Amino acid sequence: MENKKLVVIGANDFQNQLILKAKELGFETHVFAWQDGSIGEKTADFFYPISIVEKDEILEKCKEIKPAGVCSIASDLASITVNYVAGGLGLTCNTPEDSEIRTNKYLMRQAMMDFGVKTPKFKKVSEGDEIDVSGMEFPMIVKPTDRSGSRGITKVLEESGLLAAVENATKYSFEKSAIIEEFIEGEEYSCECISYQGKHHFLAFTKKYTTGAPHFIETGHVEPSDIPEDRQEKIKEEIFKALDSLKIQNSASHTEFKIDNKGNFGIIEIGARMGGDCIGSDLVKLSTGKDFVKMVIEVATGEEPDLSVVSKPVRAEIKFIFTKEDLDELERVKQESPEKIYRISEMELDNMGKTEDSSSRVGYYILTSEKEER
Ligand SMILES: Nc1ncnc2c1ncn2[C@@H]1O[C@H](COP(=O)(O)OP(=O)(O)O)[C@@H](O)[C@H]1O
Ligand SMILES: [Mg+2]
Repeated sequence: MENKKLVVIGANDFQNQLILKAKELGFETHVFAWQDGSIGEKTADFFYPISIVEKDEILEKCKEIKPAGVCSIASDLASITVNYVAGGLGLTCNTPEDSEIRTNKYLMRQAMMDFGVKTPKFKKVSEGDEIDVSGMEFPMIVKPTDRSGSRGITKVLEESGLLAAVENATKYSFEKSAIIEEFIEGEEYSCECISYQGKHHFLAFTKKYTTGAPHFIETGHVEPSDIPEDRQEKIKEEIFKALDSLKIQNSASHTEFKIDNKGNFGIIEIGARMGGDCIGSDLVKLSTGKDFVKMVIEVATGEEPDLSVVSKPVRAEIKFIFTKEDLDELERVKQESPEKIYRISEMELDNMGKTEDSSSRVGYYILTSEKEER
């Protein structure tokens, strides 16, 4: 009999879409997460209150469950556990021994550089180290090596700002280290792909909007992007090479990059998982008509991803709410073009005007409309 058990790592809102899709496909879902009242605790067929970082404990339990696949969406931390557990069970995944180059910003830069992928100059500093940026040019950006969601990030214009930026980044870092990188100029985008058996399939480019300096918190995303058709092939080629450098073979991926006004291209970072912020779970499906969440399950269960178009592609946009003005804008959209509203999240009104990183935004809404002719 066909094995229809699927293990999902994580139970929050984003993961819930994966749980629901798995159930729709006829899987019995076994979900692991820290118990905190997340929605997945209720939607799962079987819920195990084990934190997603308890890799060995989860692996032991999964040896009893004997699933067809292990998967997760949109979380680096969860992806480490996915590969560890799937690897331990002999299931399709990315090599668990290379998880660090896919999640540590310094090791990632190093792996890309060693493979011949173009990278800005970079350096690692740990708490208490002397900061030496000789050979590098300002502006620079300083980030914790091992955090996400724009935590602890600062753009630095000159030498005098470095120390405070490094102290701030190391404070956030689990390993008390920061990476200092030369700043890549330009507009920001991401590229959403699915890889199976080492072959990469392009799905979409996303245009990203951020608050800009100093903290670069994402304010919205749009698909399709405005990247000219004739530039896209070359960019895909470089991204596929970068995916190879990180040994991304069996998973979704989310590559963040910038293009400056001269057409120069530079990679910011890569997640060996779907893009968060509803990019992987919603925008890709809306803008391409292809079922990305289903593909993640297919790859995890050792099947070729189904790239067929199953719904009409539309323009899709997510907007994040930071302030009262943003909420007013949403009210305006509700009045003037309610047909565009695809989803409105719950609002954490306590965060209003106090957003410091992407976890402290107030909420979001997703809009769709007919694709513009290009
Ligand atoms: N080298 C860089 N040059 C220009 N902008 C950068 C650079 N590194 C990071 N950024 C900006 O900071 C944001 C967050 O950095 P990122 O490395 O993606 O960390 P996080 O894991 O927090 O998303 C990016 O989306 C980008 O806007
Ligand atoms: Mg990022």
